[in-house]
Amino acid sequence: MSNLFFMKKEEKKNDSGLMDKIVSLCKRRGFIFPGSEIYGGMANSWDYGPLGVELKNNVKQGWWKKFVHSRTDMVGIDAALIMNPKVWEASGHLKNFTDPLFECPECHGRFRLDKLVPGVENVKVESTSATDDYKKEYYVNQKDLIGQGVIKEVIKCPDCRKVFPDKMKFRFFNLLFKTFIGSTEDAADVAYLRPETAQAMFVDFKQVAETSRKRIPFGIAQIGKAFRNEITPGNFIFRTREFEQMEIEYFIRENDWEKTFEYWHEEMYKWMGELGLKKEHLHDLEVPEKERAHYSKRTIDIEYDFPFGTDELYGLAYRTDFDLGNHAKASGQSLEYLDPETQEKFIPHVIEPTFGVDRSVLAVLCESYFEEEAPTSEEGKTEPRVVLKFPKWLAPIKVAILPLSKKEELAKVARPIYEDLVKHFICEYDETQSIGKRYRRQDEIGTPYCVTVDFETLEDKAVTIRDRDTMKQERIKISDLINYLKNKLGD
Ligand code: GAP
Repeated sequence: MSNLFFMKKEEKKNDSGLMDKIVSLCKRRGFIFPGSEIYGGMANSWDYGPLGVELKNNVKQGWWKKFVHSRTDMVGIDAALIMNPKVWEASGHLKNFTDPLFECPECHGRFRLDKLVPGVENVKVESTSATDDYKKEYYVNQKDLIGQGVIKEVIKCPDCRKVFPDKMKFRFFNLLFKTFIGSTEDAADVAYLRPETAQAMFVDFKQVAETSRKRIPFGIAQIGKAFRNEITPGNFIFRTREFEQMEIEYFIRENDWEKTFEYWHEEMYKWMGELGLKKEHLHDLEVPEKERAHYSKRTIDIEYDFPFGTDELYGLAYRTDFDLGNHAKASGQSLEYLDPETQEKFIPHVIEPTFGVDRSVLAVLCESYFEEEAPTSEEGKTEPRVVLKFPKWLAPIKVAILPLSKKEELAKVARPIYEDLVKHFICEYDETQSIGKRYRRQDEIGTPYCVTVDFETLEDKAVTIRDRDTMKQERIKISDLINYLKNKLGD
């Protein structure tokens, strides 16, 4: 939740080595790589490659299946990214969606003050001028901060290492991405890229409620891009300026908010279990009032132990009737719900479980990454392997078909198996390099099953199936292969 003085608990795990390995594997194997690289890249922009897009789509499709298709109380929408700017005025984003920005007077590096000075949100700040909103400048004195025990010693610039001046001036920087509609760039044509998918669910509430004929309690779900002009993006795909969200706005009667909040809290944990995230790596952070987003009466950030520290994965917020109420006021349209049984009219309250797509992908990559010793073809010998032990439903490639050699007689049997399997599962055919190297490659991209076609296959019409996690091998008749894999992959 971004807020005036929002601070995250950065419990450093000091395992940047692991993070580097994951980033390098992602690039090497075509999961995720730096965007616009042929032009020297673009800071903090990442592109999902052939395997990355499959992994990400599996997350999104699994989420949609669980939270929309498998429920009777949920419908989905897919709204425009650029909405009427009045939306962001009514939602409070134009005024409140800010982070405190401090610029180093020496090297002009820009930082979030709340990251430089953890705990600064509890400090009374002074303003230097009377101009309004986020143009106004504020300052904190380092000596005062030391006196109050907020910091132990004067702070140095993380970039140029110069000691910051005692009076640290900062301003609130609005994270909305501004753009212009049409050919003239004047103020009347200003628009914003949406910073959260949520607002469309409020703005379209009436349309959706009427056309879907859903009764409260019910939810609207959406998956899509969001944009924020983050001051300090970083940590790979953890914090970027362009990212994807999966959000639910669940509409309820006010009296039901506490039990619905608890219910969604449990549902979120079930989902994280399905992603394979271990409970001991997940932590609830009850966000104190001062740090909550402007619309929230209660927020829990669900944090994950990333290799660079424990930080927000998902959020759960009680948004009250703040959004619908404000949109009703600003638009002059009634956004009340009419209970068809009691004829009671009211503005629904909202529980919002929100899930970052990219952070889901990152957490899954971190959780699934293992380095272990694997047996080689030589009796009693082992060699190190890197393996992504994705839950099978998330694996980008489900089955690899590996003829033992490139010989035509093996290809004649292996190709038809591949052509058959590809109708049921996402498969890869690979006949290059030694079988050991091909297993290592499939382990690194998390393929649950490798099917090896060897010379015996020509005789016994059977293949060897190797399990990614146990590395155990089984001989299976070609005629039983599809059913065997369907069973194993849970299809
Ligand atoms: N509608 C509520 C909302 O947008 P948020 O906590 O600001 O709340 C929701 O964002 C989720 O979106 C976060 O929990 C996180 O998973 C993801 N997210 C937020 N900012 C992000 C960024 N800059 N890069 C990647 N993911 C981000």
